[in-house]
Amino acid sequence: MIEVHELSKRYGATLAVDRLSFAVRPGLVTGFLGPNGAGKSTTLRMMLDLDRPTGGTVRINGRRYAALRHPLREVGALLEARDAHGGRSAYHHLLWLAQTHRIGPARVREVLDLVDLANVAGRRVKTFSLGMTQRLGLAAALLGDPPILLLDEPLNGLDPAGVRWLRDLLRRLAGEGRAVLISSHLMTETALTADHLVVISGGRLVADAEIREFVGAAGSLEEAFLNRVGGAR
Ligand SMILES: Nc1ncnc2c1ncn2[C@@H]1O[C@H](COP(=O)(O)OP(=O)(O)O)[C@@H](O)[C@H]1O
Ligand SMILES: [Mg+2]
Repeated sequence: MIEVHELSKRYGATLAVDRLSFAVRPGLVTGFLGPNGAGKSTTLRMMLDLDRPTGGTVRINGRRYAALRHPLREVGALLEARDAHGGRSAYHHLLWLAQTHRIGPARVREVLDLVDLANVAGRRVKTFSLGMTQRLGLAAALLGDPPILLLDEPLNGLDPAGVRWLRDLLRRLAGEGRAVLISSHLMTETALTADHLVVISGGRLVADAEIREFVGAAGSLEEAFLNRVGGAR
């Protein structure tokens, strides 16, 4: 469904992403795992055509993101940076986004329910905690009911109940046949949420495997990760 092929990104002397290839498949939660600075956000930005690759390609059902006819209905995205619509209420922020994509207000109510923000929908976004902001970003990603979700560090800022809630939601969305990619630097949370792992370090692929396969004899994802990645940078 999504194919990343030999993707590279250079910022001056920094090779942020180094000939990275992997696929994101439907029906699975794929964990995109790597330490801070590994190149996860850069890769996601290139997947969404927000940053130009130095080399390589990304194909979403055979096309680049910028060539998709109804991007919001095809790919839902949550990036690290906060949206700057702090003065708007959550409801109006989503309504504005929906209207620019010909999505009706009923769907706005639906996604607010889905991310558990219905009771604060009238509050201004700038009063939101990081966890609430993450939920709002997720609501925006879900507006178009897309079969693909690309989420950059969606677990950040969530409390333990929020982490469990998001895990259940993502597992349900994958169970409906969607392709779900979540980046994270958090081992334990990712181990509990993902089916498949794409592990990178220093912009390079370290592993592309089922969680069970990657953990192997190490006993835990954290142990396996430190064995494979520790000291790489
Ligand atoms: N706009 C940019 N300009 C220069 N360097 C950047 C830029 N964005 C990211 N980098 C560098 O690229 C590397 C990968 O960063 P990033 O993709 O944010 O990693 P991650 O999301 O895995 O923490 C880091 O060394 C970072 O400093
Ligand atoms: Mg990042």
